[in-house]
Amino acid sequence: MPSAAPDDSTRTDTRAATHRSARPASPAGFAELEKATADLQPPFAVVDLGALRANAAQMVRRSGGKPIRLASKSLRCRALIGDVLRLPGFSGVLAFTLPEALWLAQDGALDGEGRLGGDTEGAAGADGRPDGGATGPAGRNAPASGRTAGPAREDEAREGAGGEDEGRAGRAERAAVGAADRAGPSILVGYPTADVPALRRLASDERAASRITLMVDSVEQLALITEAIGPSGPPVRICLDLDASLRLLGGRLHLGMRRSPLHAPEQAAELARAVEARPRLRLVGVMSYEGQIAGVGDNRPGPGLTRAAVRLFQQFSARELRARRAAAIRAVRAVAPLEFVNGGGTGSLEQTSAEHAVTELGAGSGIYAPVLFDHYRGFRPLPAAYFALSVVRRPAPRHITVLGGGWIASGAPGTDRLPLPVSPAGLRLLSAEGAGEVQTPLTGVAADGLRLGDRVWFRHAKAGELCERVDQLHLVEGDRIVDVVPTYRGEQHAFL
Ligand SMILES: Cc1ncc(COP(=O)(O)O)c(C=O)c1O
Repeated sequence: MPSAAPDDSTRTDTRAATHRSARPASPAGFAELEKATADLQPPFAVVDLGALRANAAQMVRRSGGKPIRLASKSLRCRALIGDVLRLPGFSGVLAFTLPEALWLAQDGALDGEGRLGGDTEGAAGADGRPDGGATGPAGRNAPASGRTAGPAREDEAREGAGGEDEGRAGRAERAAVGAADRAGPSILVGYPTADVPALRRLASDERAASRITLMVDSVEQLALITEAIGPSGPPVRICLDLDASLRLLGGRLHLGMRRSPLHAPEQAAELARAVEARPRLRLVGVMSYEGQIAGVGDNRPGPGLTRAAVRLFQQFSARELRARRAAAIRAVRAVAPLEFVNGGGTGSLEQTSAEHAVTELGAGSGIYAPVLFDHYRGFRPLPAAYFALSVVRRPAPRHITVLGGGWIASGAPGTDRLPLPVSPAGLRLLSAEGAGEVQTPLTGVAADGLRLGDRVWFRHAKAGELCERVDQLHLVEGDRIVDVVPTYRGEQHAFL
C-alpha cells in the first residue's frame, strides 16, 4: 500500500463493523483474558480452551458422523493436535509436509494430554446445545476415534469406502479408524513432495511407512518417488489428489484453485493403474479439496451482488463435484480397493459429509476460528486464538501505535488477510499502513483511553499461521492460564 495514500477507512470500517455485530468474541471475555495474562509481556498468543472445545464439538456435529482428519497446518501445535485427536469424531492427521509427517509419526508424538477432557461432552454448554454435538455415530454414543471401537477388519473397510451400502461403509470406516488409531494416528500428507531425503527416510522406516500416506497427482511424481525409495523395503502408501475446481467450456473457464491436473474420472483411474503397476507403491486413498466452497465464506461483507454470485457459484460447483467425485471414486475402486476418500474443509463439513462417496473430512481452521471463518451462513465458530501487542506511542489524538502487528495471512493479497484488532472495541488499522513489520498505528475512539503499556488484542485472519509468529501458546480457561504449550516454531520446526 502506498504510504502517501489517504486514510481510506471505508474498507477497514467494514471489518470493524463485522466485529461489532459479532457475538461476544470469547466465552472467557477480554476482562478474563486480561486477568489471566496480566503477568505476560506482549507479544504473546493465547488459545481459549472453552471456545476451542465448543468449536470442536460444532465441527463434529456438522460432519454428520464421518470422522474429521485434522489439518495440522491449521493448528501447528503438537500438543493441541494430540488433544483434539483424543476427541471422538476426530481421527488422523492431514499433514502439510513429509518431514512434518515423519516427526508426527514418532511414537508418542501425538498422544496429547487430555486437556480438552477426552470427549466433546464438556463443550455442550459452551456451544449452547444440549447434545454438545457429541451424539450420532461420531459422538460419544458411538465413538469414531477408535479408542473404544471394536476390532477392525481391513477388508471390510476397503469394501466400505465409497461402496453402495452406506451403513456398512460407515461401520467399516469407523472400524478402520479404530485400527489406525491404536497403531498411532494415520497421517496423510495433503500435498505432493519432492523431498528425496525425506522419501528415503520414509521408505526405510517400516512403522512410519505404515502410518504415512503420500499425495500424488501425476506419473512424474510417481517416478520421483519410486526412484527415491528404490526397489526394496516396505510398501509406500499413496493417495490421489482429484482436482475439485469447476471447469467449463472444455476447460477454457477455470473456477476454483489451480491444484491437481487430475480432473476427469478416467484420468484418476489411469493414475490409479500407474500406481498399482509399481510394486512398492500401494494405492489407499483419494482426496479432493473443494477450497472454492470450504474456504470461501458465503456471507462475506461487501456488495450483495458479489455475495449472491459466490453462493450461486458454490451451489453449482458443489453439484458438479458431487457427481464427478462419485464417478471418479467408482472408477478408481475398479482398479484398487480404497481405505478412505477425503474431502472438504471447515467451511463445507455438512455438504461434503453428505456425499456418499466421501468417507472422511479434512479440516482444522474451525478449531481456532480465525477471522476468515466469521463469514459463513451455516455456522459461527467462536474465536479461540488471539494475540496481544503493546501500546508504545501516540502519534496523534485518536491514534495509538502498537509494537509489531504485521502478522498477515497468506493468499491473494487483500484487506481480508490483515489481522483484526478486537479489543478494546473501536480500533481499526489505517489503510495507508496496514499492519506494520515493526509497528502498527491504530485509530478509533478507544485510542484516547489507552496508556503506554496497555494491550491491544488481535485475531489472525488465518488459523495456524499465527503459530509461526510465537514459540508458545498460553492456554486459558476462564481467567486462568492452565498450560503453556510450544508451537511447531517453539519446537524448532519451521516446515513451511
Ligand atoms: C487438502 C486440504 N484439505 C482440507 C483443507 C481445509 O482445512 P481447514 O479446515 O483447516 O481450512 C485444506 C486447506 O487448505 C486443504 O488444503
